[in-house]
Amino acid sequence: MLRGKFLTIEGTEGVGKSTNLAFVRDWLQAKGIEVVVTREPGGTPLAEEIRSLLLAKRDESVDETAELLLIFAARAQHIAQVIQPALARGAWVLSDRFTDATYAYQGGGRGLSTNIITQLEQLVQGDLRPDLTFILDIDVELGLNRARQRGELDRFESETMAFFERVRCAYRARAEQTPSRYALVNAGQELAAVQADLRLILATLVSGDGV
Ligand code: TMP
Repeated sequence: MLRGKFLTIEGTEGVGKSTNLAFVRDWLQAKGIEVVVTREPGGTPLAEEIRSLLLAKRDESVDETAELLLIFAARAQHIAQVIQPALARGAWVLSDRFTDATYAYQGGGRGLSTNIITQLEQLVQGDLRPDLTFILDIDVELGLNRARQRGELDRFESETMAFFERVRCAYRARAEQTPSRYALVNAGQELAAVQADLRLILATLVSGDGV
């Protein structure tokens, strides 16, 4: 059986990931594709526990390497329990964030070495990489204002504007480096325009021309 496709959605805070992820899922399902929707950090009971540890605000300052290793620990579990089995049986996997978030947040935001992230990526993922990553791109301040309206902020959402500018910059740089693996979408447009862009990308993907 043909391996399913692995799609991921990324972006800074308040970019509209949930709404657009649901749009992508519905569009694929309407084409008769089985879609497993999941998220990172998380996606399994153990990985969701690690997510809670990562997102909780705490008095103790969190060591950046400890954060990085927790993220990859959750990812290893997620890949083994959810992603690989789904792809192997021919389902598509749609993940709300994956390793591009690590390059953007821990690499760009925290300033950790890209080389170390690449080594962990190799250890934990082997050859597994997304077939296509949607990067929803938005003005950082606009996104943060949206995120703040959702209520109390978690440990990442409480970061500075400068942090999120670096995160955004890292996402954009990755899309520029390997354009065939990314779809950079202007998420500052009206929702209908964002979704028109997504529809075009999906149509190309499903017809087999895109990836
Ligand atoms: P969410 O906002 O998409 O629910 O994701 C939770 C937070 O985790 C988000 O602020 C970004 C952060 N994160 C990282 O810092 N590195 C990662 O590798 C992943 C997957 C998420």
